[in-house]
Amino acid sequence: MKKVFLFISLVLFVGSLHANESKICQNCHPIIYKEYYESSHRKSSIYNNPIHKAMWERYPKDEKGYTCAKCHSPSDLESLNNGKLTENDIQIHEPISCVYCHTIKDIQEGDSSNTNINSDMKLREYYTAEKSLEGKVEYKTVTSWFGLVKEPESSPFHKIDYDNETYYDGNVCMGCHSHVNNKHSFDITMLDAAIDEKDENSCVSCHMPQIPGTKAAINETKTHAYHGIAGIYLKRDLMGKYIDFKVSKLDDGFNVLVVNKANHALFGQAFRQGILKAEIIRDSKTIKLEPFIFERILSKDSKEVMPWEADEASKDTLIYAKRDVLFSKVIKKGDRLILTLGVQRISKEGAKKLGLEENKELTKFRVLKIEKLDF
Ligand code: HEC
Ligand code: HEC
Ligand code: HEC
Ligand code: HEC
Ligand code: HEC
Repeated sequence: MKKVFLFISLVLFVGSLHANESKICQNCHPIIYKEYYESSHRKSSIYNNPIHKAMWERYPKDEKGYTCAKCHSPSDLESLNNGKLTENDIQIHEPISCVYCHTIKDIQEGDSSNTNINSDMKLREYYTAEKSLEGKVEYKTVTSWFGLVKEPESSPFHKIDYDNETYYDGNVCMGCHSHVNNKHSFDITMLDAAIDEKDENSCVSCHMPQIPGTKAAINETKTHAYHGIAGIYLKRDLMGKYIDFKVSKLDDGFNVLVVNKANHALFGQAFRQGILKAEIIRDSKTIKLEPFIFERILSKDSKEVMPWEADEASKDTLIYAKRDVLFSKVIKKGDRLILTLGVQRISKEGAKKLGLEENKELTKFRVLKIEKLDF
């Protein structure tokens, strides 16, 4: 009975609300909401992300205003349509809202970046993927308590559309994550993201895996798609399995072949760094080797510059499909080799350029994978 009252009051309450719609979803999707609130997508605005803020402050401004809104705060329509920034509830609580993602109908391809085409958000018809279901689902109730009580079986708040292909192949992410080219047609964000039918995994299966906990407070399910986004910030331990190490001994050292199973280059974001550390334990002593850095230095006239000015990469040691990393220390019988791969949101040099040296969180080494090998 309590539930029924909750729904009646919700439906009344909902009719009068516009801002912070994600809070409404929280009522029936509490686990997903909590995860979302910790995610990089909730923190993508300049008010929530210090790196973004520092970069925007240095970005050359023109009459178009805040053009980052297209991907960083599309739910704030003032910022999206007029380039105007104000520290409002949407910027803080839902710059990329639940409704925004769940109404992405199609992706329009573009030269400098792609664009999301959303369906009418007021219709309250949300897309999702569920292989066992098809078609559109309206609010349904089942009668229980000998016909006295009607219990909702699907959502009384919205319809669900299971027929949108972009939700099945991961294309739903590509309006924002495909490429961000600067005026020199130079891709400054993620690199080489491409979706192929033959891929074993998709953006969603790797970054939003099914984990325990119900999708909705009513109609309990065992699992739900992780909305905190497994990646740099959270659940990094789940990401290491998509990167393999193949070690081979050489006469003058050893080689680590790093194999990337993702369908994009790793660590491509400006100022980002991947780091491979190697340690040899020999006769109970630890020998630390010089770490290898995976990064791209964005430059113009061979000098490092801000990403929007760059027209070349003066250094590119990113991991595309795979990369050989040579270490010049000979491995002996009885040695234990410990390889640790991690990522830093920004390099120490990047932090200095952006005036963020004080914020140690940003240059913290975040472990993705540790492997121990005995020889
Ligand atoms: C009054 C409760 C209620 C509210 C409010 C609500 N939902 Fe739902 N939602 C449900 C129920 C119940 C389901 C069905 C779950 C199932 O299929 O097992 C559902 C299912 C979904 C699904 C599809 C899940 C699937 O795989 O079948 C999506 C996507 C979704 N909701 C998004 C949202 C968003 C976004 C909001 C906020 C704008 C929201 N919901 C608000 C109750 C609600
Ligand atoms: C077409 C979409 C798009 C546009 C437009 C866009 N970005 Fe981004 N941006 C992204 C995506 C996607 C990521 C996440 C990529 C990643 O983590 O590799 C990102 C990440 C970032 C990051 C890294 C954040 C972090 O915590 O590591 C910064 C900084 C950033 N963008 C700044 C900007 C600025 C400043 C603008 C506007 C001048 C802008 N972006 C415009 C899509 C976009
Ligand atoms: C970055 C885009 C994005 C945002 C933001 C987002 N979702 Fe989702 N959501 C997805 C995708 C993609 C799926 C489909 C996952 C799959 O294929 O299993 C999904 C699945 C779901 C499901 C079904 C769960 C399941 O296991 O399939 C529900 C319910 C849902 N989302 C609700 C929400 C709510 C509520 C919010 C806000 C608190 C939200 N979503 C924010 C992209 C998003
Ligand atoms: C096979 C698993 C896999 C697939 C498929 C995959 N990724 Fe990744 N992704 C990873 C791994 C592993 C990393 C590196 C760990 C990290 O930085 O979070 C990563 C990193 C990222 C990053 C951070 C990049 C940076 O600049 O450091 C973004 C953004 C991202 N993925 C988005 C996507 C999108 C969008 C798709 C779909 C086109 C996708 N991923 C498909 C495994 C995957
Ligand atoms: C509306 C644009 C938009 C959509 C749609 C979108 N993203 Fe993002 N994503 C961003 C932005 C912007 C960032 C950078 C946020 C920041 O750190 O400032 C980001 C960051 C990320 C990161 C890196 C940070 C981390 O948490 O590790 C991953 C991984 C990621 N997104 C995966 C996905 C996946 C998977 C999808 C599809 C289900 C998706 N995104 C859909 C805009 C988007």
